[in-house]
Amino acid sequence: MRVGLTYNLKENASLADEHSAEWDLPETIDAIANALSREHEVIWVLADADAYEKLRHSRADIVFNVAEGKDGPNREAHLPAILEFLRIPYTGSDSLTLSLCLNKARTKEILFYHGIPTPDFQVFHASNEPLVLTDYPMLVKPLWEGSSIGIHDNVWVENEKELRSKMKGIIVQHHQPAIVEEALTGREFTVALLGNGTQLKVLPLVEVMLDALPHEAHPLYSYEAKWIWDTPEKPLDIFHCPAQVEDVLKGKIEGIAKAAFRALGCRDWCRIDVRLDREGNPSILEVNPLPGILPNPRQNSCFPKAARAAGMDYPEMVLSILGAALERCGMLESVGSSKRR
Ligand SMILES: Nc1ncnc2c1ncn2[C@@H]1O[C@H](COP(=O)(O)OP(=O)(O)O)[C@@H](O)[C@H]1O
Ligand SMILES: [Mg+2]
Repeated sequence: MRVGLTYNLKENASLADEHSAEWDLPETIDAIANALSREHEVIWVLADADAYEKLRHSRADIVFNVAEGKDGPNREAHLPAILEFLRIPYTGSDSLTLSLCLNKARTKEILFYHGIPTPDFQVFHASNEPLVLTDYPMLVKPLWEGSSIGIHDNVWVENEKELRSKMKGIIVQHHQPAIVEEALTGREFTVALLGNGTQLKVLPLVEVMLDALPHEAHPLYSYEAKWIWDTPEKPLDIFHCPAQVEDVLKGKIEGIAKAAFRALGCRDWCRIDVRLDREGNPSILEVNPLPGILPNPRQNSCFPKAARAAGMDYPEMVLSILGAALERCGMLESVGSSKRR
């Protein structure tokens, strides 16, 4: 098969550059292309201003999409929308789900509708709007970022004065509304899912060991924790996989993660952040339908880590994501016949 690979590239390898934190390094795109090329012809398509024309002439049978997009609250949906327009099938969630999940409030509205637990929240367009939430601690986050962008250690707030000040900073610096959430103070997990329908599989749970953070840090997986305190040279021992959880809790976490995957209309693969409340019940923090997949195990990337714990190496993981998309699109048969040819 001819498999397109759509991606955005971080030219500057500085991981601490907040604005391109979401984009991929060349080594990640190389690793994905190498995996795909074990079984397919790979067509590289940088998701730049010429992406539409490149895809139009690509003759790709399917696209493996990891393009995070460039600007605005629908950036992750831009490439998928182009692919839909060109009627080229692609891996992962569709443009609607990608936009919904990037917006943390829209995601939570849908979870609330389906009765899936998630912390109470409020959206602020200006920092002087009335506050309805009452229970501290709370967290303030930009409404439509990912990769912990804007979620610095100090967004964990204990009173209204701190809350208003952080909220103002986020609205001004990130040019978007702020979402305020009641903080969950229990253990944190991230859950990788692979497949669709009855074939949807939960990979081994990853626990975020917040105790591994520096002593003075707040208990959250912040921008500092992700990009500054954890480096390949000096990795932070922050993830345990498979997580040590007893069966009842594991069942509850897997259950709400699968329910969230389905409620948001996710496809093929996804990584969902979950945290326990003070009674030990799990709740959804956010849904990542386009999770990072850094190939170097020392870079602490959660989806590949969970896949490794499930016995899949990196190429097998990439080909499984593609396989889920091919199966969903009824294209597995044509892979077989192109191999036989
Ligand atoms: N309501 C919350 N309660 C407790 N911790 C939270 C909450 N929201 C976010 N966090 C912490 O902040 C981290 C980053 O927030 P998240 O919503 O996952 O943003 P991102 O899209 O940047 O990953 C989480 O991994 C978690 O440690
Ligand atoms: Mg997250």
